[in-house]
Amino acid sequence: MSIPLRKLNDQYFASCPLGLEVPLENELKNLGVQIQEVVKRGVNFKATTEQALKIVFHSRIASRLFLKTFNFKIKNEKELYFGIKEINWKRFFDPHLAIKVIVTRSTTDKRYSKFQNTLYLSQVIKDGICDRFKKDNLGRPDVDLKNPDVIINCHLRPSENPHSQKSIATILIDFTGEPLCNRGYRVKDAKAPVRENIAAGIIDLLEWKGDENFIDLTCGSGTFLIEAYIKAKKIPASFMKLNLLQKNEHLKLWNFQKLNIFKSAQNRKAIQKEIKNSHKLLEESKSKKLDCLFHGNDIHYRTVMNLKEDLRYLGWQEDIKVTSVDARDFADYSTQKNLLFSNPPYGKRLDEERSLEDLYYELGENFKNNFKKSRLCVFSANREMLKRISLKHSKKHIISHGSLDCRLVEYLNF
Ligand SMILES: C[S@@+](CC[C@H](N)C(=O)[O-])C[C@H]1O[C@@H](n2cnc3c(N)ncnc32)[C@H](O)[C@@H]1O
Repeated sequence: MSIPLRKLNDQYFASCPLGLEVPLENELKNLGVQIQEVVKRGVNFKATTEQALKIVFHSRIASRLFLKTFNFKIKNEKELYFGIKEINWKRFFDPHLAIKVIVTRSTTDKRYSKFQNTLYLSQVIKDGICDRFKKDNLGRPDVDLKNPDVIINCHLRPSENPHSQKSIATILIDFTGEPLCNRGYRVKDAKAPVRENIAAGIIDLLEWKGDENFIDLTCGSGTFLIEAYIKAKKIPASFMKLNLLQKNEHLKLWNFQKLNIFKSAQNRKAIQKEIKNSHKLLEESKSKKLDCLFHGNDIHYRTVMNLKEDLRYLGWQEDIKVTSVDARDFADYSTQKNLLFSNPPYGKRLDEERSLEDLYYELGENFKNNFKKSRLCVFSANREMLKRISLKHSKKHIISHGSLDCRLVEYLNF
C-alpha cells in the first residue's frame, strides 16, 4: 500500500501554554521567522536552520520546538502504518538511537479526530519506523520512554473537508527533547514554582519594559524575578546550558545534535556560530546597566534563604534584593514607579482559604493606599480570592498552568 506523503520543508511548530500564543508569536517574529498560523497553544512557522537554532538559544516563551517532516491523509491505523513506513527515517536519525513516539489529537475542531487510542497509535508508528529501518537492512531502533534520543510526535487532526472521513497525520521531531522552558537555574527544590516560560510570557503580556522596579511580593523560588532580570539584561534564555557548553563544547544537550541533518559541515558550523553569538551576548549582559530595581519578597524564611543561595550561585545577588516580610506590610519604594507583582498561594484547605481571603484583600488595600505611581499584577488560579481585591482591574488574561486555569489581573493606581 502506497500513501502519498507531503514533504514539509523548513516548517516548525513551537508550543506554549494556553494564553501565551501572542507573546510567543511576537518573540518568533523578532527572531526573524515567517509566521504561518497561530493556533491554540502554539505557533506554526517557516524558518531556516539558523533561525531554528536561534529559537533554541533565545526563546523565553516556547515550551517545545518541533521540526515538521511530512503530513499525509489517513483513514485508519493501517494507512498510518504504511505512511510512516514510507518515510526515509535514515535521513533523520540512525537506528542505534533510542526513540519514543507521542501521538496527540487536535481539539480545536468540533469533529474530534476519530483515532481515540493514542497509545495504540504510538505502537503502530513505532512499528512503521522499525519496519522501514529493517526493510533498508539497517537494524532497528530501540524504544526508551524515559531517556530517548529522538522523540517523534504524530499530530492528528480531522481533514479540512467536512464530508471527508480522513484525518491528517503530521509527523514532527521534537527538536530539543528536554523542554526549552527547563532553564535549570532553580538549584534548590522549590515548593510551587511557576514554569519559567509562563513567567516570561506574563512579563511580556504586562508589557514590562524594564523602566519600572520589578517587585515580587510573594516570590517563592524567584521565577518571575529571574525572568524579568533575564529580559532586562538581554541574557540568552539558554544561559545555563551555555555555561556548560563553555566548559565542554562537544556536550550533547539537545536532541537535534543527534539528528543526521546536523552532521553536515554546514549545520555543524551553524551550531558553533550560534554558540559563539550567544556567548557574546551573555558576556555583554554582564556589563549592561539596569534602569530599575529588582526586589523579591516572601514570608517564608527558608524559601528566601534558598532563593538567596540560588542568586549567589548565579552571581546576581547584588542586583536582586530579597527580603522576608508579610506582603501585606510591604512598604519599600512607595513613591517610585513599580510593577508590584504577586503570585499568591491559591489555597486548597478551608483554614488556609480564610487567611488567604485576608491576604488577597490586604494586597489590594496596601497597593491602593501606599503605591500611588505603581501597578499591581496578580497571577492566581483562585478566581474567588481574586474577587477579594477591591479594585477595578485594567487588564485580565487567562493563562493555563498545567491543569490549572489561571488569571493574570492588572490594577493601576494612577
Ligand atoms: C504560589 S507560591 C509562589 C511561587 C513563585 N511564583 C515561584 O515561581 O516559585 C506563593 C508564595 O507566597 C508566599 N506567601 C504566602 N503568604 C505570604 C504573605 N503573607 N506574604 C508574603 N509571601 C507570602 C509563600 O511562602 C509562597 O512561596
